Amino acid sequence: MRSGGNERGDVGEVVLTTGYARVDGTLSCEGVPLDRIAGQVGTPTYVYSAAMVRDRYARLDDALAPLPHRVHYTLKANSNAAILRLLHELGAGVDVVSGGELFRAARAGFRGADIVFGGVGKSEVELAAALDAGVLLVNVESEAEVRTLDRLARARGVVAPIGVRVNPEVTVDSSHRYIKTGEKGAKFGIPFDEVLAVAQLVSDLEHTTLIGLDMHIGSQLFRLDPYLDGVERLVGLLRQIRGAGIETVRYLDIGGGLGVSYDDEESPDLRRFVHGLVPLVQPTGLTLLMEPGRFIVGNSGMLLTRVLYRKHSGGRDFLVTDAGMTELIRPSHYDAYHRIEPVASPTGSMKADVVGPVCESGDFLALDREMPEVNAGDLLAVHDVGAYGYVMASNYNTRPRGAEVLVDGDRFAVVTARESYDDLVRLELDHPEWRTS
Ligand code: LLP
Repeated sequence: MRSGGNERGDVGEVVLTTGYARVDGTLSCEGVPLDRIAGQVGTPTYVYSAAMVRDRYARLDDALAPLPHRVHYTLKANSNAAILRLLHELGAGVDVVSGGELFRAARAGFRGADIVFGGVGKSEVELAAALDAGVLLVNVESEAEVRTLDRLARARGVVAPIGVRVNPEVTVDSSHRYIKTGEKGAKFGIPFDEVLAVAQLVSDLEHTTLIGLDMHIGSQLFRLDPYLDGVERLVGLLRQIRGAGIETVRYLDIGGGLGVSYDDEESPDLRRFVHGLVPLVQPTGLTLLMEPGRFIVGNSGMLLTRVLYRKHSGGRDFLVTDAGMTELIRPSHYDAYHRIEPVASPTGSMKADVVGPVCESGDFLALDREMPEVNAGDLLAVHDVGAYGYVMASNYNTRPRGAEVLVDGDRFAVVTARESYDDLVRLELDHPEWRTS
């Protein structure tokens, strides 16, 4: 019998064909028990369900069907090559924010036309690489960037396709102030009242052309009105831009940010969302682009960690695990909640701080957490780490980054090997060359 699982609403006797569920008491990913993966690959290990990634992509793509659109998956959430290849097979485009992500996207098979290039601080080398790759568009965030692109494009004898990232200056209700981006005074985008002038500049310069308007208002969003307000403001701008005789805009990029459930939040209603979008976007004739990251991969990932010690101190129970802020920084950085449960059949109950091995008091996965009874040696699963998990991992305390595993049906494969100590010192020079000029 299967029970539990990641899909709220599918809990109980329902047989889950995707995601995570208990099979004969043991937590499993699709057809693979998680203790088998930990036994063969060790811990800490990130596990991803291919079926869940496929499911989320299809849900969003289907929901957007009433509009001409393309889903450009955001690499920053999880840039693992196996995930990228999977999304490439499904027909996704991508959104990249650095030369490194551009490199990864190309390696995974994405062509220039599949790629949107964004980011608040792109270097000249990165902008040149974007032009050389023939990206669909570069979302610019300042006038200076427009002028740099014009110069680089001129040198290459091309015209740079540009989207202007607008700060729509809407109020968002994201779970943490670090992941809001579209409010007045944010470092991102071009202030709303300066957009028309920048659009005019892009249109006037010989080697740039304005093909998109873009926004991204924040991450982990549940209320959809700020999105729709932002879109409305972008459409208003489009009208002014067209009114100024600029007829080249073809894309409306509304960014990422769709919230996912980490606890018992209700996922945004995609049908309602699209229902709200259609009357705004359809009359413009533009193709809608979205840049989701978390929505596609967030719930698909699980972090497997072993309990090293159980100890008691100052009236509290501590579970010291072999993963911590180096593997998942979200709890300490954003006060983020991630469900944690034993992989084996849960019994009893306790309240514990689940803490990592790193020498920092802020190194924890959960504080004051009610959970089943857990002891040293037990295997724990930390839920919903598919987005902003591995990509934000660090080597602090000279800790090698864990392995990444993809599960597909009843098979699994290591898709990123565990780092070795040698990997960690590979770039250090034992005999540095001293320079005096
Ligand atoms: N587009 C742009 C321009 C972005 O800045 C982001 C995320 C996305 C798309 C994708 O947003 P998503 O659909 O994943 O919400 N590390 C934080 C989240 C930072 C998000 C940064 N930008 C966290 O762990 O919650």
